[in-house]
Amino acid sequence: MAATEQKLPVTGAGPFNGVLTWIDQRFPLLSLWREHVSEYYAPKNFNFWYYFGSLAMFVLVLQIVTGIFLVMHYKPDAAQAFASVEYIMRDVPWGWLIRYMHSTGASAFFIVIYLHMFRGLMYGSYRQPRELVWIFGMIIYLMLMAEAFFGYLLPWGQMSYWGAQVIVNLFDALPLIGPDLALWIRGDFVVSDATLNRFFAFHVIAIPLVLVGLVAAHIMALHEVGSNNPDGVEIKAKLGPDGHPLDGIPFHPYYTVKDTFGVMVFLGLFAIVLFFMPEFGGYFLEYNNFVPADPLKTPQHIAPVWYFTPYYSILRATTADFKLVLSAAALAMAFLIVRSPFRAKTKALAVFVTVALLVGFYFIDAKVWGVVLMGLAVMIFFLLPWLDVSPVKSIRSKGPLYKSALAVFVVVFLVLGYFGTQPVSPFATYMAQLGTLLYFAFFFLMPWYSRMDKTKPVPERVTV
Ligand code: HEM
Repeated sequence: MAATEQKLPVTGAGPFNGVLTWIDQRFPLLSLWREHVSEYYAPKNFNFWYYFGSLAMFVLVLQIVTGIFLVMHYKPDAAQAFASVEYIMRDVPWGWLIRYMHSTGASAFFIVIYLHMFRGLMYGSYRQPRELVWIFGMIIYLMLMAEAFFGYLLPWGQMSYWGAQVIVNLFDALPLIGPDLALWIRGDFVVSDATLNRFFAFHVIAIPLVLVGLVAAHIMALHEVGSNNPDGVEIKAKLGPDGHPLDGIPFHPYYTVKDTFGVMVFLGLFAIVLFFMPEFGGYFLEYNNFVPADPLKTPQHIAPVWYFTPYYSILRATTADFKLVLSAAALAMAFLIVRSPFRAKTKALAVFVTVALLVGFYFIDAKVWGVVLMGLAVMIFFLLPWLDVSPVKSIRSKGPLYKSALAVFVVVFLVLGYFGTQPVSPFATYMAQLGTLLYFAFFFLMPWYSRMDKTKPVPERVTV
């Protein structure tokens, strides 16, 4: 018997049965559907925080579709880009809607992603065995930031131009390779037509392709180990007589219905912003970006879009004086590691790194350290699965130490974000410096407070 004939026919008596059977004999459509949707058993206690994964997928598709329509009218040319966006807004039928959907969609994407990541922090979804799900997520986050950064240059407004100038100049600050690296990224000595063309190529094809691939990897990794849940119970540990988790329900129809409801609510809120406040008070589309790019006129106050501002605050916090505080923090950290029961090798490494840092703080300019701290602030999320050594995953079983640390971290992230949007002032710098210390304390002190915390036992079965 030929291999294709051995396949089971599609069950049920639907109008498309013939076609589906024909496809399934040639492509594993049905088994993919079963494995990832209709027979993917997800914990039955998913709550509000579990809307944001499917919403992120929805917004990704929304961005790609609206992006395709924008590209039909947009001109990636420094002499025409600004005017082509104005043309889309004024002359192309429904062009304003497509453009606002895309620009508001970018901010919506980051709101959804930050809430999705926060869920991970609350329920310890980054912990074993989901480290790779988290790592793929973090690479997605980095790619998303690159995508947003490249996209923001395309309207060729004042903020597009000067924002790109400031960010590319950060690379210029790096020792030895900096100036050549910045030149290589721009393709010119200043942000110019060459820069616009390469940013366009990355924004419309390279990064979206990578993003789609990464999202597939993210979901495959998740489905390999199974979803976490608000109780932090591993549902695969207790199987029923049918071999399925006792605390699991099939993703379809239960969660397809729940997620569709989530999409409806999201679309309602999205429409309100889109139709009544698409610029969102200058936070989603900065007012300066309605002025064409002028390389001869620097705007008085340059700030990135809100989703980058916590990191921008950390960059600006790193002044020459702050290097002293950082030196003290590095010494305190080394002292803590040496006094803790780590292996001798770890302690020696900590001392070595601290000495290197102290020498570096003394000899290397604060501007460089600003760039380093800003990069570290993003990259440190990758280490979460190993920094958190608590015996439990979910915040429901964690004690007051982790709960307070997470609450402080959220406030600090928002405060840093706010001050990153404000013009430089002594008060803003002071707040950003305090915020920077607390931000890093959340991560660097986690191995201690997550171990010392008073945890509760994880329930046997999920609570609904
Ligand atoms: C385009 C961006 C992203 C998409 C489309 C996406 C999609 C999803 C989906 C559909 C799920 C399963 C449903 C759910 O648990 O909500 C999920 C789970 C998860 N995602 Fe993402 N994600 C994205 C970005 C990220 C990022 C940036 C992170 C973190 C750095 C992340 C970390 C996780 C984790 C840890 C889980 C497992 C959660 C659990 O089981 O409790 N994701 N993601």
